[in-house]
Amino acid sequence: MVAGTLPSSPSIPKFSPSPSSETLKGAFKHLNLAFFSSTAKSLRALKTTRGRGSALGAQMASETALKTPFLLDFETSVFKKDAISLANRDEFIVRGGRDLFKLLPDAFNGINQIGVIGWGSQGPAQAQNLRDSLAEAKSDIVVKVGLRKGSRSFAEARAAGFTEENGTLGDIYETISGSDLVLLLISDAAQADNYEKIFSCMKPNSILGLSHGFLLGHLQSIGLDFPKNIGVIAVCPKGMGPSVRRLYVQGKEINGAGINSSFAVHQDVDGRATNVALGWSVALGSPFTFATTLEQEYKSDIFGERGECFPTPIILY
Ligand SMILES: NC(=O)c1ccc[n+]([C@@H]2O[C@H](COP(=O)([O-])OP(=O)(O)OC[C@H]3O[C@@H](n4cnc5c(N)ncnc54)[C@H](OP(=O)(O)O)[C@@H]3O)[C@@H](O)[C@H]2O)c1
Repeated sequence: MVAGTLPSSPSIPKFSPSPSSETLKGAFKHLNLAFFSSTAKSLRALKTTRGRGSALGAQMASETALKTPFLLDFETSVFKKDAISLANRDEFIVRGGRDLFKLLPDAFNGINQIGVIGWGSQGPAQAQNLRDSLAEAKSDIVVKVGLRKGSRSFAEARAAGFTEENGTLGDIYETISGSDLVLLLISDAAQADNYEKIFSCMKPNSILGLSHGFLLGHLQSIGLDFPKNIGVIAVCPKGMGPSVRRLYVQGKEINGAGINSSFAVHQDVDGRATNVALGWSVALGSPFTFATTLEQEYKSDIFGERGECFPTPIILY
């Protein structure tokens, strides 16, 4: 395996570019509330209710989650966890590589369809990397792209081999309701605007996958949380979508060069979430996958982006 970059410490704010104007607009819109909501409110006890029927049918908690300590350790029954020492602190990682693709069917236990929602920067890269990795593992898990009605991206997705005819391209909400793992890769602003319908379409015990913690910050800012009958995980590549794809393709020659990713398990309804998140990251081609939390992810990422992109007076408004 060839490492793209050194593994990164989740405790250090990292620049992870997601520079679409919509994303930044959403960040501005919700920043004040999102950052301040992480104090007192997030320390209240979480009401845990397991719902039936649709995910939205499960009562959305009106108070934000009691945060567990920022543990970097995790357990996985599928992949090998390695300890590394960074700044005199032990951290745990999973090293990637194409030789691990054979483990993907185990990691994705219970998953028949992965819905990749959106075709912006991350969508094309993640959909194609997942499809290629699962094909190499001889898995029959379907990777299906879901797009909004009338989207101009249908043509691009078809050109990449996702088609209505072979059942790998369809409407956004039909794809969400038919998927066991939903990778929500529409813009962060669109996530904030459409989360209710998205949640209502998700199957109970399905898993929502994010590549940014922004939606958590938004939900916290309005006193909500994710529905309790779905898993919530994140895999956040530390690079732009085109690089996630390009390095994966280049890595075919050298067992898996790619882009490192952080991963987080925010909600685990049935014990599968860690393996699924790690499988997603390995399938993307991440040379190193390291643990973080969804909350740490959005805070470090938005601070990082704003620190890089905007002058101090704007950051401190
Ligand atoms: N940019 C990066 O490289 C990067 C890096 C790490 C993490 N992330 C995270 O990955 C996620 C996706 O970001 P991105 O940059 O790849 O995508 P993006 O460019 O922010 O969003 C593009 C996608 O969002 C869809 N979209 C926009 N408004 C919509 C609406 N109202 N309803 C349905 N779909 C809508 C677009 O649909 P159409 O195709 O129809 O226009 C398009 O497919 C975000 O959470 C982001 O923070 C991004």
